[in-house]
Amino acid sequence: MIQLLKSRRSIRKYKDKKIEPEKIEKLKQAALLSPTSKSKRGWEFIFVQNKETLKKLSEVKLHGGKMLEKAALGIIVAVDDTDNDVWIEDASVAATCIHLAAHDMGLGSCWVQIRNRMYDYDENISSEKLVKKILDIPDKLNIVCIISVGYSNENKTEYDIKKLNYSKIHEERY
Ligand SMILES: Cc1cc2nc3c(=O)[nH]c(=O)nc-3n(C[C@H](O)[C@H](O)[C@H](O)COP(=O)(O)O)c2cc1C
Repeated sequence: MIQLLKSRRSIRKYKDKKIEPEKIEKLKQAALLSPTSKSKRGWEFIFVQNKETLKKLSEVKLHGGKMLEKAALGIIVAVDDTDNDVWIEDASVAATCIHLAAHDMGLGSCWVQIRNRMYDYDENISSEKLVKKILDIPDKLNIVCIISVGYSNENKTEYDIKKLNYSKIHEERY
């Protein structure tokens, strides 16, 4: 597990290569196996492989979403906040499980933040509103993020355990 976490990086450049259906199936399992508060499982996941749709999704925010255009897959993490005060946490845990499962299968991925992001501040158009429109997502769902996935086309060095900032860790009290 530590090796997986050490070598996990955000991958934003992808090869023009499809992801095998078995791997996509495993990503679905990773999403559905993620833990939620009170086992509410209020999330829903939209798996998008259509190139035109991915291009549209890559344009819903001004920065930090362009990699979706070249990704083989985008996974939209949506969640119902009805009677759930920790919907952001539930969705974030699921997104993290997907991100790690992708890496475990030799796929690169990156979190694209959608919640609290704007397409146009002056016109008050949120990225979330655009994602919902592109994918016909009902109003009751909140979009937290999109995970872009594909075979990596960049080399990123893994983290060095010796360089971890242990001052962030406190024992017994702050
Ligand atoms: C909550 C969250 C939101 C993020 N949003 C974006 C984003 O919108 N676009 C992007 O390119 N990367 C995004 N990232 C990836 C971070 O930039 C990345 O994890 C960080 O720079 C550390 O790099 P690493 O993942 O390679 O360790 C996000 C990560 C998290 C956890």
